[in-house]
Amino acid sequence: MRKIVVGLTIAGMVVGGVYAQQKKAQPKREEAVKPEEVMQVLKTGLSSDPRFAWKLNQDEAQKICSKYKSREEMPAKELQRVIQLSQQSIAYPQWGIYWGDWKEGQKIVDSPSGGRYASYGFSDSPTAKGGNCYACHLIEKGKPGGTMGPNLYGYGKKWGISKENMNSPEAVEKLKAVYNIVYNSWSAFPCSSMPRFGYHGNLSTNDVMNVVTYLLHPESPVNK
Ligand code: HEC
Repeated sequence: MRKIVVGLTIAGMVVGGVYAQQKKAQPKREEAVKPEEVMQVLKTGLSSDPRFAWKLNQDEAQKICSKYKSREEMPAKELQRVIQLSQQSIAYPQWGIYWGDWKEGQKIVDSPSGGRYASYGFSDSPTAKGGNCYACHLIEKGKPGGTMGPNLYGYGKKWGISKENMNSPEAVEKLKAVYNIVYNSWSAFPCSSMPRFGYHGNLSTNDVMNVVTYLLHPESPVNK
């Protein structure tokens, strides 16, 4: 009899303990979650898988961005540091800046695959690369897209690029400026939610050149 009582008591303590833990594990909505706690959850969930483990190490720019709720809150010095680090990260095609193939660029812009899968190595087709740009941008006339980023329709015209001036040194400078944005968006828009396509290796230097050509070329549907 005594044994049973003890057994029940222990069972009660265990059940009670689990219940108390469950209650504790559900924080009230208004309780702020600390960044360290988020990292802990991410670490326990991802660290066992080498395909994701590297993602847990923030680079210096990410560490700076994580300190602030918005770009507006960032001190000028921190903004400058993120821009500087991002500019330093940019690699250019072997032959420098050139007009690429806008049709190839269009394929990358249209493709929703790529960034999310290609670099993790378990995509249906591991070489598939895409920008998924329509997730956040409106680009060609009449094609549906997102509004998180600015509307890019007529982007080449906005930069003042025409058939007449497209091979001038000024136009090449403009190609380079947009190349920098697509390769590493943080070089122009620190801590932006726009992915850093070239920096992460999701797009190669030639891919970025083709995407930029698609955005700026007078013959591209973006500028028709
Ligand atoms: C997750 C959303 C997202 C995706 C995906 C995305 N962008 Fe963006 N993009 C943005 C945001 C937001 C901005 C505005 C920059 C800022 O203020 O942070 C932007 C800005 C830009 C700009 C600069 C526009 C200007 O004002 O001059 C260009 C060019 C651009 N994006 C091109 C692209 C291309 C090309 C792709 C696909 C390869 C792409 N973006 C994918 C969110 C995105």
